[in-house]
Amino acid sequence: MPPHHLQGPSVDEVRGQALAKFALAVAAAGGHRLLLVGPPGSGKSMLAARLPRLLPAPDLHQCIQMTNVLASAKRWPGQIINQRPFRAPHHTASFAGMVGGGPTLAPGEITLAHQGVLFLDELPEFRREVLECLRQPLETGAITISRAGRQATLPARVHLIAAMNPCPCGHFGSTPKRCRCSPHAIRRYQDRISGPLLDRFDLRLQVNSPTLPDLLGPGNNDASTVQGEPTEQALLRGIERSEAVREQRGQKVRNVDLTSQALDRWAPVGTKGLKLLQNATGRSALSGRSIQSLRRVARTLADMEGLDHCGPEHLAQALSLRLDWAEQDRPVMP
Ligand SMILES: Nc1ncnc2c1ncn2[C@@H]1O[C@H](COP(=O)(O)OP(=O)(O)OP(=O)(O)O)[C@@H](O)[C@H]1O
Ligand SMILES: [Mg+2]
Ligand SMILES: [Zn+2]
Repeated sequence: MPPHHLQGPSVDEVRGQALAKFALAVAAAGGHRLLLVGPPGSGKSMLAARLPRLLPAPDLHQCIQMTNVLASAKRWPGQIINQRPFRAPHHTASFAGMVGGGPTLAPGEITLAHQGVLFLDELPEFRREVLECLRQPLETGAITISRAGRQATLPARVHLIAAMNPCPCGHFGSTPKRCRCSPHAIRRYQDRISGPLLDRFDLRLQVNSPTLPDLLGPGNNDASTVQGEPTEQALLRGIERSEAVREQRGQKVRNVDLTSQALDRWAPVGTKGLKLLQNATGRSALSGRSIQSLRRVARTLADMEGLDHCGPEHLAQALSLRLDWAEQDRPVMP
């Protein structure tokens, strides 16, 4: 089992946000993509910056790949690097800046983030065409760019995490501040994220502003944790447990990469699970991709508990970590 590197700032610096921290750990354990939605200043960017902390240290092969990427970008660091990249391109990023290109077919952000984290902060503010071009590499882990008859295929296996406000003013669905946006404006804002892109986020979470006691409380640096708030150590234990279970069943890939065949074997849906999915499908027309994604997350949740068996309770939990949005006539969140 690869050791965890404890790269970057500690998760314990974020106060409150128990559910978001847990989701961050689930994302790290399974390689799942996470979208955080919430009001300004609630800690979304802070949380995202802590994803590298929970990822396993890269193996030698990955270190070489990451170093090659830097070399091809003419940023050869002079030695093999052993830290996963954390790339947070600004939302004004150009097409070439994101996917790569230009006269030298230079790597873009999605390649510079290879084997590391790509963080898209303020997701709806990105240009639509820039976001849409990420869809394909997210599935294949590689990006093909071309210019003036030349073509290059570059590695682009990234761990995607994104954050956004729920509406233009940022306060929709949260207390105590009230949202000042019209339903139409909220809808239009949320619609900037296309259905197919949204579909690729396995975990979608509402983050609320931390309460005063959360912020000012004793923190969780010792055993006396604030009301069940998971410590970084506890999260890492869950992640390590998941790695052990995965290794035991001889699985080489992360759960996010499980094929349908592997899912049938390791995350079978029983009668109860089927009912759950049927109910959920009735509500929001889950896509085929969504259903497989839910099963992958369910598998990760079971792994984190150290269980071989992946049951309906894990599917239910996976559903609860997936803010529902596609079908609504009204924007998400109450
Ligand atoms: N849960 C928290 N625990 C500790 N500090 C916090 C928390 N939430 C916010 N802060 C403080 O507020 C600052 C802003 O947080 P952050 O940038 O993560 O908010 P955000 O949700 O990304 O906001 P925006 O929607 O404006 O981007 C942090 O740098 C930190 O000082
Ligand atoms: Mg932010
Ligand atoms: Zn608003």
